[in-house]
Amino acid sequence: MTTQDTAGLRLPEYTQADQQEILGTGEDPFGVAETGLAWLPKEEHFGIRVDGRLVAHAGLRRLPVTVAGSDLTEVIGVGGVAVAPDVRGRGLARRILTTALSHARTMGPPHALLFCRPPLVALYERLGWQAIPTEVPVLVEQPQDRVITMPLHTMVTPLHEGARWPEGPVRLRSLPM
Ligand SMILES: CC(C)(COP(=O)(O)OP(=O)(O)OC[C@H]1O[C@@H](n2cnc3c(N)ncnc32)[C@H](O)[C@@H]1OP(=O)(O)O)[C@@H](O)C(=O)NCCC(=O)NCCS
Repeated sequence: MTTQDTAGLRLPEYTQADQQEILGTGEDPFGVAETGLAWLPKEEHFGIRVDGRLVAHAGLRRLPVTVAGSDLTEVIGVGGVAVAPDVRGRGLARRILTTALSHARTMGPPHALLFCRPPLVALYERLGWQAIPTEVPVLVEQPQDRVITMPLHTMVTPLHEGARWPEGPVRLRSLPM
């Protein structure tokens, strides 16, 4: 089987060993260790297997958020997006995100949100995500009741027709995912 004909599937679980099957055992496979951030695990997992080998993953998690001081609402946080190094550049991130977001559309909240390093903004824009302008503060919680400004880029995408992300400061009422 080639990477061309494999569909994304919902995974019953996603362990550290699963992540290592995709990204290897390096210490900082997502390149975000220098931020020192604490993260939440994802609750729903999607993967692509080729000949039994897990080669791609994306995770989802419902998160409480307020935007521009609005009432508390929810977003679907997307994280752990990963494709094995030897099969990158073949559309697997696009495919696994399509699978994950079609599930996210059934979960209720009108938007999905993710955090990424600057070099990945263009890739996610290509996949239909929109960057929240860097001058807009995005606050997230951290251990010991700390609230910090997210140092990574924040991107959103609508899950429902006509959904529009409101302008204004974003405050995640949880750790990031
Ligand atoms: C980021 C990552 C998931 C991308 O996986 P991938 O399978 O190579 O991505 P895809 O091949 O599906 O590419 C997605 C789209 O982005 C485009 N793209 C890739 N690099 C791009 C760039 N620098 N600028 C603009 N678009 C880009 C691709 O052309 C493709 O668009 P297309 O389908 O219209 O051709 C992979 O590099 C990875 O696992 N990195 C390490 C872990 C990580 O950093 N994850 C991100 C966490 S936020």
